[in-house]
Amino acid sequence: MIKLLDLQAITAMHGDEYKAAVNRVIDSGWFLQGNENKQFETDYAEYIGTDHCIAVANGLDALYLLMRGYKELGIMKDGDEIIVPANTYIATIIAITRNNLVPVLVEPTWEHLEIDIDKIEEAITSKTKGVMIVHLYGRVSYDEKLGEICKKYGLKLMEDCAQSQGCAWKGVKTGALGDAAAHSFYPGKNLGAFGDAGAVTTNNTELAEVIRAVANYGSQKKYVFKYVGMNSRMSEVDAAVLDVKLKYLDEDNKKRQDLAAYYYEHINNPLITLPKRIDDENNVYHQFPIFCEYRDKLQEFLKENGIQTLIHYPIPPHKQECYKDWKYRSYPITEKIHTQELSIPMNQVISMEEAEIVVNVINVFK
Ligand SMILES: Cc1ncc(COP(=O)(O)O)c(C=O)c1O
Repeated sequence: MIKLLDLQAITAMHGDEYKAAVNRVIDSGWFLQGNENKQFETDYAEYIGTDHCIAVANGLDALYLLMRGYKELGIMKDGDEIIVPANTYIATIIAITRNNLVPVLVEPTWEHLEIDIDKIEEAITSKTKGVMIVHLYGRVSYDEKLGEICKKYGLKLMEDCAQSQGCAWKGVKTGALGDAAAHSFYPGKNLGAFGDAGAVTTNNTELAEVIRAVANYGSQKKYVFKYVGMNSRMSEVDAAVLDVKLKYLDEDNKKRQDLAAYYYEHINNPLITLPKRIDDENNVYHQFPIFCEYRDKLQEFLKENGIQTLIHYPIPPHKQECYKDWKYRSYPITEKIHTQELSIPMNQVISMEEAEIVVNVINVFK
């Protein structure tokens, strides 16, 4: 079986280093809010290129805390609108609605799969306070025009970087392109922990301080609670592991980019469409999505031939039961993506022989 993601093999690549890091934490007897968190926050902020990194419990919390921070600062209030791509993963939307903010869904482009920047201005109302871009599949979702729109209308530009660690736009990493960004270190991400973990990055010191406090029960001083907070902290074990993995992130992404190049050069089947190829700097290939009208049949065919795949995602947010009260119109491009998308094996441990098998099987599908 050629796996979509072989976490056992990926972890084994630097197994001894991870074990040493975990043992260091065990021996220290210090499991939360310690030196490992401080070190990872420093290293990740430096890698992303922001003044601050706040380590939290997971990516959803990072997204929630980012907007909650703006609310505590009085920059956003209940009922304000956030523009967001209609084809994002549900977590982005949950973080908005859990803050009593309103998601305004904007279609992606079929070519790039990211929010259609040309449709953002028409979605802006007097209640719009921010745009949340999502670098889905590891593809950058930014250009200067977006920055100008946000500046023109006084909107906060926020990034969901759950799938884009290491990706950049003209030398600036995702996570440093806007005002604040959320990151997920779910085990399957390009930079994945040994459990749930996440972070917020920003240059805004005031925002960083509020987020750090809210994530720690709302406290800036022991047993003094300024905000009605939550418990969202990263374990020392995860921080230690992530700090090891961070050293290898660019190298790992390069392997993904090489595999993607092979797929682009060799997948050739008239029934299958590949996403527009963009520069490697702009794509860290968290997933390699391919599109087919007969997606379910293709998935079955690949499975029969020993190739594991996954759909990202089968049901778009506006069609989920949890949001059944929304009276939103339809989103045809989003729906087309969700009915045709199939993610094929993509990670840093796939061999060229395996890649060749994947390509050959895809090419004979009819
Ligand atoms: C685009 C996107 N946003 C947010 C998240 C949420 O991250 P987490 O699973 O760490 O809560 C994910 C994770 O799957 C994601 O893919």
